[in-house]
Amino acid sequence: MTRSNAFISIREVDKYFGSFQAIDSVSMEIAQGEFFSLLGASGCGKTTLLRMLAGFESTTSGEIFIDGQPMSDVPPHHRPVNMVFQSYAIFPHLNVADNIAYGLRKQKLPKAKRMEMVDEMLNLIKLPGYGQRKANELSGGQRQRIALARALILRPKVLLLDEPLGALDKQLREQMQLELRALQRQVGITFVFVTHDQEEALTLSDRIAVMQGGKVLQVDTPAGLYETPRTREVASFIGNMNFFRGTVRRNGAATGAVETEGLGTIPVALDQLTKPDGTTVQVALRPEKFTLSGTKPEAGMAIEGTITNSAYLGERSHHYIRIPGKEEPVAVSTQNFQRADGGGSTSSEAPVWLSWSPDSVVILDDA
Ligand SMILES: Nc1ncnc2c1ncn2[C@@H]1O[C@H](COP(=O)(O)OP(=O)(O)OP(=O)(O)O)[C@@H](O)[C@H]1O
Ligand SMILES: [Mg+2]
Repeated sequence: MTRSNAFISIREVDKYFGSFQAIDSVSMEIAQGEFFSLLGASGCGKTTLLRMLAGFESTTSGEIFIDGQPMSDVPPHHRPVNMVFQSYAIFPHLNVADNIAYGLRKQKLPKAKRMEMVDEMLNLIKLPGYGQRKANELSGGQRQRIALARALILRPKVLLLDEPLGALDKQLREQMQLELRALQRQVGITFVFVTHDQEEALTLSDRIAVMQGGKVLQVDTPAGLYETPRTREVASFIGNMNFFRGTVRRNGAATGAVETEGLGTIPVALDQLTKPDGTTVQVALRPEKFTLSGTKPEAGMAIEGTITNSAYLGERSHHYIRIPGKEEPVAVSTQNFQRADGGGSTSSEAPVWLSWSPDSVVILDDA
């Protein structure tokens, strides 16, 4: 994305609490209508960044632009944003309709108009007819939807959501994720969504910023983060990854190669090899990029190993394979296309061949 179509532009923002730096030179651009997520472990600065977008927190340095306007002198209630908090703070003593209409009370709208807008919201969040229900007579998921409706009814240009599904159990959470995504598409509002759950971020987002220690490590699409992580931290934060230490061995050849601990000297696309010959790198391969076979494959690279452990997980199985020259076993995941016998975990010590396609290899700096 270029700066010109950015709806939110965060430029070189720092945030200090006393001498503690919570946000470290963060820059990113978010497009209009984008579902954008901030993903990172607890304490990495997600809420702080969101609160700076909302105006509840000032920036120590740098600038935030929304819709082309610098925000530093704009108080929260004059920003075109609305925030949904993690603890869905709805008022238990008000009924559903009054909760949803709460933010409209200053707008001096006729009652009929207000009620029409509330009904529209109740339809949108799939709770039609719930207006007179007391807030404390709702389930967790229903309350969450009321909190969303209360924010959406004000038609903000940007909705900031701080772990809005955090309090829900797994099943409800997955259902709400689908509904949230559909809702966002329907209303076309820009969403900035905070989560520490990588699966949730991958499911929902157009793009994700991976954060660590107040810094942004990488901003990319879900597939971009998963298939072409730029650092070891990102590679291991999103999904599982096997790492093999290696040395670049281009030898002036037209095709690249890396000499690895465990996989031998493997061919690697030249565009992945930006470092000079002899540089130590990390070769990264996802567990599902390997193929397991009982006999040596006829073509391509293959390594013989021993299965030390297998776990049956229903639609797939996880295996750990010991190979010569590498201390930690290689994690491999396979799809259970055929109906499996037995199941559970096994420890078989069976010999097996590991193969992979050169284009699934990712080369990372050895940091
Ligand atoms: N008002 C404050 N004063 C001092 N330190 C703060 C303040 N608010 C946040 N911090 C610190 O800044 C860091 C980032 O906090 P933040 O709340 O942004 O993390 P987070 O990524 O949202 O974490 P979580 O996933 O646990 O909600 C933390 O180390 C936190 O202790
Ligand atoms: Mg937080």
